[in-house]
Amino acid sequence: MTTLLHVDDLKVHFRLPGEGVLRPKAKILRAVDGISFNLKAGETLGIVGESGCGKSTLARGILGLVSITAGNVWLAGTELGHLDMRSLRSYRKNMQIVFQDPLASLDPRMTVSEIIAEPLQVFEPRLGKEARRKKVQSIMEQVGLLPNQINRYPHEFSGGQCQRIGIARALVLKPSLLVCDEPVSALDVSIQAQIINLLLDLQEEMNLSMLFIAHDLSVVKQISHRVMVMYLGKMVETASRDELYRNPSHPYTRALIDAIPIPDPVIERNKHFSPLQGDLPSPLSPPSGCSFRTRCPRATDVCATEAPVPREIIPE
Ligand SMILES: Nc1ncnc2c1ncn2[C@@H]1O[C@H](COP(=O)(O)OP(=O)(O)O)[C@@H](O)[C@H]1O
Ligand code: SF4
Ligand SMILES: [Mg+2]
Repeated sequence: MTTLLHVDDLKVHFRLPGEGVLRPKAKILRAVDGISFNLKAGETLGIVGESGCGKSTLARGILGLVSITAGNVWLAGTELGHLDMRSLRSYRKNMQIVFQDPLASLDPRMTVSEIIAEPLQVFEPRLGKEARRKKVQSIMEQVGLLPNQINRYPHEFSGGQCQRIGIARALVLKPSLLVCDEPVSALDVSIQAQIINLLLDLQEEMNLSMLFIAHDLSVVKQISHRVMVMYLGKMVETASRDELYRNPSHPYTRALIDAIPIPDPVIERNKHFSPLQGDLPSPLSPPSGCSFRTRCPRATDVCATEAPVPREIIPE
């Protein structure tokens, strides 16, 4: 498999205004702080970590929706940071995103066909009306929407159907890379499974590469070939899905796995431990040394000065 996406030492830092009246000093929030990975054609990389770990900012940095502080993004061998606007546009067309809240991400005043056709109007303005209609119809069919739903409005659909519309809008341009930012977090469990199965089918049909973001390791397990675990803007571990779940090397990964709810309500209720102690520290002042040390059951004095080298198992 060839590499589609290569991300090298990506940093996205936000400059926040300082407090105080006399010479307030700006603070730097390191939302993404040196992330590197490769993604192959047709592969899914799951990205997990608690809320606030920097997952969405990483996605937005890759897609060019937020300014990158440092690092590089290559898509199909081309580094995106040095492209002129016109070339960048054609690469942007090739990278699309599905958001978490299906209904909120759709314009309530537009019909389904207008919503799905919008990216075509932006990126393929010369396409005729009939060709556009055919493309919209075809992608609606692929995502499991009915032809007679074409003139309906988002509020007439369930959450799962709205997410199908969001997926159709993202895929109508036939991108190579689909970024799914918590696409099923707002849906019921039974609907989650339907959307995951749909994404798996579409991936095969379209040879899509996917970044699948979630805060929940059980969801990521169903769809990912490899999984990257993030903590406070950094990667703590990346491995194949099976290796990561069978043999997690980082205590944070272990805690996330232990936090997965057990399907039996009695066993789940009687769990006598809370895998993750305390809250996520502020990314404005992360702990020294290993940033997980304030919550790690195995922390020692050394951890205040030294951070472990993240384990990264790269496939052949
Ligand atoms: N535009 C922004 N300005 C300042 N801080 C931001 C901005 N976007 C995100 N952050 C901060 O960056 C950190 C990571 O956020 P985010 O990427 O949304 O995490 P996640 O998606 O893992 O929940 C959080 O502390 C968040 O408050
Ligand atoms: S706190 Fe120490 S033991 Fe725990 S993950 Fe960090 S380096 Fe490892
Ligand atoms: Mg997020």
